[in-house]
Amino acid sequence: MISETLQKAREFESHYGSFIPADQRPAFHVTPTIGWMNDPNGFSPYKGEYHLFYQYHPYSNEWGPMHWGHLKTKDFIAWERLPVAIAPDESYDASGCFSGSAIELPDGRQLLLYTGVQRHHNKEGFIQDIQAQCVAIGDGVDYEKCGENPVLGAADLPEGGSFIDFRDPKIWQEADGTYYAVIGNRTEDTSGAILLYCSTDGLKWELARTLDRCNNQYGKMWECPDFFVLDGVHVLLTSPQEMSPIGLEFHAGNGTVCLIGDYDPAGKGFVRRYAQAIDYGLDFYAPQTLLTPDGRRVMIAWMQNWSTVGAKPYNCRWFGQMTLPRELSVKNGRLYQNPVREFEGYRERCVIHNNIPVCSEVNLPGIQGRMLDMTVTVRPTGSEPYRWFRVRVAKDGEHETIIRYRPDQGTIKIDRTRSGLPHDIVHTRSFLVSYREGEIKLRIILDRFSLEVFVNDGEQAASTVIYTRQEADAITFEAGGAALMDVEKYDIVLDQ
Ligand code: FRU
Repeated sequence: MISETLQKAREFESHYGSFIPADQRPAFHVTPTIGWMNDPNGFSPYKGEYHLFYQYHPYSNEWGPMHWGHLKTKDFIAWERLPVAIAPDESYDASGCFSGSAIELPDGRQLLLYTGVQRHHNKEGFIQDIQAQCVAIGDGVDYEKCGENPVLGAADLPEGGSFIDFRDPKIWQEADGTYYAVIGNRTEDTSGAILLYCSTDGLKWELARTLDRCNNQYGKMWECPDFFVLDGVHVLLTSPQEMSPIGLEFHAGNGTVCLIGDYDPAGKGFVRRYAQAIDYGLDFYAPQTLLTPDGRRVMIAWMQNWSTVGAKPYNCRWFGQMTLPRELSVKNGRLYQNPVREFEGYRERCVIHNNIPVCSEVNLPGIQGRMLDMTVTVRPTGSEPYRWFRVRVAKDGEHETIIRYRPDQGTIKIDRTRSGLPHDIVHTRSFLVSYREGEIKLRIILDRFSLEVFVNDGEQAASTVIYTRQEADAITFEAGGAALMDVEKYDIVLDQ
């Protein structure tokens, strides 16, 4: 049964979404059909394709009562839009269908597990959420919410767990058929925890354990958890609110944390060994992963930051983008990420320049554009090795976005101050990179409204949105001191 609320949203997006010309969107990054988008939801294989849902408010470019927008793809790069999947149309989700996940059931149906939000006034008159987990089941296009909803609520929390902040279930199935879900929660110390639940059918759930607790170390409430095995270790991803900065690793506000450790289900549970940021750019939040049939762990995230969502281009008809899906691995105890290999199938017109001496600003024949995949490798040379190296992209007389490497400090800085956003928000971010005798490899991916940088074969990634006019497509290189550079650049070509 399609409710009136869902029908209205479907009609709205199919009518107004068609007015947005393809060249006013990114070519290969997901955007909402119309209006507002935040977290990726339900990123999962289903019937031989990959589905992606997203937090969606079609009616404006602001956050509002959350629906789930929907798309699917065969290769993570070319996406097909599907109608809105679910809308806030039941008493238990009247204030929003918040983030969640999806899985294919043994009978071929698709199960969506999401957070239903009901808003009410508490004793002091303040507005308060009741957050509970709900299920909708469908055929990949239409979904029916279950009569048993909510399937997990206040009564299923451990002692001290808050029903106000209990959200973002990520479901998976183990080889023995048992379903598991990790869910974000706030504990009595006001910081976050990740709860682990299990189920035999995806409908009746039981608390298995508290998987990890923030203990006020990395931010407060932990949102959007994900938990999986990768290269022999266990990885717990979460997106904390209210983080305090720690060196250049974690910035203030909404951030992301990757905890790498071991998991012993019968004993101590998850024991962390290492913590790092997931992405080091300005815009990245709420990542979610899936496992492909050929065994790759692929992650996608909202390429935005809650602190900067007010700074949008005037009158934009879509707001919010996803990152390029990335293949994950763990090497030397760290999380590595690289664009999905399918992306390479869209590369055309290769331009290569090798051993180019760089000192004062240069541009090179064939190196420009706003939809491209470019790898720049820089090494020191001569008696005065370079102290800094800069790539400027999306550049014209007025605009530029700069990626700067300083081997003496071991830092990379992304600077979009002059990227064309007329708002006074955070425009720069610096992070530490490992030292390799002054050599650095930067894979830079541009797609009309964003820049993603993959450093040293995926050791780090940094994602940033830019709204520079498309005519600004020059790219230049410059070094303080002597450097030698190799550049390999491809245009990315998609039929639109
Ligand atoms: C994270 C988040 C989630 C929540 C959703 C609401 O960005 O706050 O915790 O489910 O967004 O749209």
